[in-house]
Amino acid sequence: MEKRGTFGSKLAIVLTTAGSAVGLGNIWRFPFMTGQNGGAAFILIYLGCVFLLGIPGMISEFIVGRHSQSNAARAYGNLGYKNGRLIGYLGILTSTIILGFYAVVAGWCLQYLYASIAGHLNGDTTYIVEYFKSFSSDPIRPCLWGVGFVVITHFVVAQGVEKGIERASKLLMPLLMIILIILVIASCLLPGAGKGIDFLLKPDFSKVSGSVFLEALGQAFFSLSLGTACLCTYASYFKKETNLLKSATQIALLDSGIAIMAGLMIFPAAFSVGVQPDSGPSLIFITLPNVFRQAFESMPIVGFIISILFYALLVFAALTSTISMHEIGTAFFHEELHWARSKAAWILTIVCATITIFCSLSVGAYSNLQLFGMPLMDFCDFLTAQIMLPAGAFFTSILLGWFVEQRLLINEFTNNGALKATFFKAYLFSVKFIVPLCILLIFLHQFNLI
Ligand code: TRP
Repeated sequence: MEKRGTFGSKLAIVLTTAGSAVGLGNIWRFPFMTGQNGGAAFILIYLGCVFLLGIPGMISEFIVGRHSQSNAARAYGNLGYKNGRLIGYLGILTSTIILGFYAVVAGWCLQYLYASIAGHLNGDTTYIVEYFKSFSSDPIRPCLWGVGFVVITHFVVAQGVEKGIERASKLLMPLLMIILIILVIASCLLPGAGKGIDFLLKPDFSKVSGSVFLEALGQAFFSLSLGTACLCTYASYFKKETNLLKSATQIALLDSGIAIMAGLMIFPAAFSVGVQPDSGPSLIFITLPNVFRQAFESMPIVGFIISILFYALLVFAALTSTISMHEIGTAFFHEELHWARSKAAWILTIVCATITIFCSLSVGAYSNLQLFGMPLMDFCDFLTAQIMLPAGAFFTSILLGWFVEQRLLINEFTNNGALKATFFKAYLFSVKFIVPLCILLIFLHQFNLI
């Protein structure tokens, strides 16, 4: 049998998994959610969710994946409960759909990277709004960029675990961090930037309501790539000596740190030119190009470089995430159906690209492409992020907390006794009670039942 890939070093494990976690969720969604939900108060609640619920959730998926060292479906089926496999299937389906619509926005980022290099984004506010409108309503161009993004992802994943995924993450993640640091410094040096920093660091609890907690929880799960068997698939490439608790903590810290830095990049610049960064999708395609233009009016060349760096940052962050979504299905087809890795990857690419095309058309030229009264793109987002992803995390918690033999969990948690079990009880408590209960609350709230 062909030897299964593994990530080569501790650093590779952190960079690839953090690569999955750090994405458009951190750089685009986190800042505007913070803007809408009270700034620093939201961040504190978000961090609470990451540490109390996110880390235990991550460890659970790590345990499932590393225990059986196989694709998501087999890994979940290998815990002593055959029906566990269904959670694996759910994860594979969820991540395939997420990749389909995520690639639409990633494709826009790629097109904006091109546009900023070609100097197409120079113009006043009306021009920038028109540019976005005419691009996004075009039937062909956004589809091509979105499908292009899926195909780029394909070529990385088809190269394999070490040569493709690990290599790309080792290159892209350090680049991403360097660009982010440059942009944070540039933004914080602008005149009037202090107000943005204040907004981000001084909590205003008056905006906090029940739904802010739920928004924070949903954002934490999406940002950590939880609930779709993604972490389980990556953990199947971890080594037997990998410390799961430590890795989960490091990745959660990196992911949250990068989200907060993204806030420190966007808020000071936006406040400096007097706009509130609380708009949704238009934040990165309309508000920010305007902010860059106004903030660097006297130094257009700096504005030009900053906007290229910004879109490169988005593309790199999105790519390391789409790679992780693609790998879940590719590993499944490759190992369960015994297809060559490249064939498995192509099949997944074709499925995802088809979803991308329909989603892209539904927010552009063909807004009548709807399901349940929502454009297809919004429907896929709603279905995955609000239903399938929490369901995956919920069932994983129930399976591990209540059904799987505790011996198996503690053996994986401590690497068969090599590590101390200090936090095991806290982990188990969270997985048995806190995680499922909180997810249940989100569900009930979402459907207006509480
Ligand atoms: N975490 C990524 C982000 O913040 C998105 C992501 C990657 C993801 N893989 C995932 C989300 C799997 C859910 C499931 O953008």
